[in-house]
Amino acid sequence: MTVTELGVPSLRRPVGAAPATGGLIDTYGRVATDLRVSLTDRCNLRCTYCMPAEGLDWLPGDELLTTAELTRLIGIAVTRLGVDSVRFTGGEPLVSPNLEPAIAAAAAMSPRPEIALTTNGLGLARRAARLKAAGLNRVNVSLDTVDADRFATITRRDRLPDVLAGLEAAAAAGLTPVKVNAVLDPVTGLDDAVSLLRFCLEHGYQLRIIEQMPLDAGHHWQRDNTLDADSILSALRAHFELEPDPAPRGSAPAELWRVLGPEHTGTVGVVASVSQAFCAACDRTRLTADGQVRSCLFSREETDLRALLRSGADDDAVEAAWRGAMWAKPAGHGINDPGFVQPDRPMSAIGG
Ligand code: 5AD
Ligand code: SF4
Repeated sequence: MTVTELGVPSLRRPVGAAPATGGLIDTYGRVATDLRVSLTDRCNLRCTYCMPAEGLDWLPGDELLTTAELTRLIGIAVTRLGVDSVRFTGGEPLVSPNLEPAIAAAAAMSPRPEIALTTNGLGLARRAARLKAAGLNRVNVSLDTVDADRFATITRRDRLPDVLAGLEAAAAAGLTPVKVNAVLDPVTGLDDAVSLLRFCLEHGYQLRIIEQMPLDAGHHWQRDNTLDADSILSALRAHFELEPDPAPRGSAPAELWRVLGPEHTGTVGVVASVSQAFCAACDRTRLTADGQVRSCLFSREETDLRALLRSGADDDAVEAAWRGAMWAKPAGHGINDPGFVQPDRPMSAIGG
């Protein structure tokens, strides 16, 4: 089933009410088992496709979930709603004091979820072993180029060596498979993709190249100014022999390719979020740092679990609200629809 067959989200209203038991199902029959938790909207980089140079108006501290609120919500997701994997994101999750406590709390839950982290890698070199000890299973490190000058241009910070050290420490700590997430620069990106893949194959990291989505704070995204999966794959094919990975893809957003070659073998994934949307297989539910459930990165509606918690609601009420939010999950992100409207929150305040 494709997203088009599922219909345009704005034209289809959810019918009936969410089932009171079972997993986090929506009206299209998808079941969300993968929880993305944004721990903070702050970040110590300023990637041009994400934030302006001066940063953003960060969420006020009293609106952020406390560690106790956060672990209560993750507990409801894991023990009542069928969530079996939890990924911590940001902003930059390593700048949040909640990270280690939240990992440790999630690791103590039963059934124990798989625990992952998406990070820009700054400070990871110092923290990797401690994160592993707290219960973290694996990491995705964002890295768009291995050229130091281009890194500084893209992120507006001259910190490539810190990221490389973070990757090495993650691998050494056993936070594997270590994945590298890359969003390519429209001008230098095809060249960066080739060097990134070479670098990842050499180090045993798994590269995932993600099409840039309209989630920048400035709302400057333009399709013509991004690289799509087809052009990325042709650029890689000029340097590497690729064959489709035979493993079933399931709900994984990346289309995986095996890299064949005498010296290095491995895999590379291309996440065609825009050109070949995979919304029909989506298994995600999202929690923002200020306690809002979003059924989709591109939702224009949120469900305020923080207000429920702070008004004294019990777990049954929170569970029902979360189920209701996911029941109304739209069919797809709608980026390719004529009436598409970008969400107000940027990626840094939603969590990737
Ligand atoms: N489109 C696609 N990916 C993005 N990321 C940040 N902004 C965008 C965007 N507009 C990626 C980051 C990081 C992850 C959290 O999301 O590069 O890997
Ligand atoms: Fe920070 Fe990630 Fe945004 Fe870059 S893309 S500024 S690392 S939140």
